[in-house]
Amino acid sequence: MTAPILQVKNLGMSFGGIRALDELDLEVNSGEIVALIGPNGAGKTTFFNCVTGIYQPTQGDVMLNPPSRSSIRLNNLKPNQVAEKGMARTFQNIRLFQNMTVLENVMIGRHCRTKSFILGAILRNKATREEEYQTIEKSYHILQKMGLEKQANDLASNLSYGAQRRLEIGRALATEPFLLLLDEPAAGMNPQETAELIELINKLQQEGQSILLIEHDMKLVMELSHRIYVMDYGRRIAVGTPEQIRNNPVVIKAYLGEAADA
Ligand SMILES: Nc1ncnc2c1ncn2[C@@H]1O[C@H](COP(=O)(O)OP(=O)(O)OP(=O)(O)O)[C@@H](O)[C@H]1O
Ligand SMILES: [Mg+2]
Repeated sequence: MTAPILQVKNLGMSFGGIRALDELDLEVNSGEIVALIGPNGAGKTTFFNCVTGIYQPTQGDVMLNPPSRSSIRLNNLKPNQVAEKGMARTFQNIRLFQNMTVLENVMIGRHCRTKSFILGAILRNKATREEEYQTIEKSYHILQKMGLEKQANDLASNLSYGAQRRLEIGRALATEPFLLLLDEPAAGMNPQETAELIELINKLQQEGQSILLIEHDMKLVMELSHRIYVMDYGRRIAVGTPEQIRNNPVVIKAYLGEAADA
């Protein structure tokens, strides 16, 4: 049996007195779509921040096991190093370079897979030009996949909200990740945009992309996920298939509790 592509054990994170993550275990197998759900403030984004080097967890292990390669311990790496090792993410609040074009935003994502150094860029030697050409070509290919090729030369700020979210996914994909992390990809989307997003994520999975996503849109979660982890107050309260999670009384209570408090 091959090791899970992401293996997180006993993850803990404290902010002063707040225990945002507590003894959290989570695994993503190669080719899987896994969802991480839970009420607001459960610790989902903190989990992403701890496994992608934005925060250093106070305890636990984060292992990436790329297929046919040796395992990589991600603890203590910086966000750019985590991306280099093969895990890319999008953010709950869109983080694009608004004053750059759609194409340039994806090209920046490819930066960690290119070799040219500053000197090469200044001298513009053959190798640098060749690499630049390939970067543009690969970035266009990603834009086609995202359905954004017609807007390649528009400023990112001119895209609709749904298109900006797709561009963020494109930028993450440009790093050629073994595992793609999406933090609320459907947030703020209208039903049509969400339906297109479901189709896109499905297509990526069919191409072999492993995906871990945080999402409040239960239609998307139930339609796409192979397995679902449920968090509440920094702890894992359930894990299972969509069917098992839908009928789990502990999960229902966590969500109803949130509704009752609202
Ligand atoms: N940098 C920080 N400093 C202090 N507390 C933080 C910090 N980041 C997160 N927290 C706290 O950790 C807890 C979990 O927050 P987190 O953003 O991970 O929740 P979430 O599950 O992503 O919620 P949502 O669904 O609303 O995005 C919250 O109590 C939050 O206030
Ligand atoms: Mg969040």
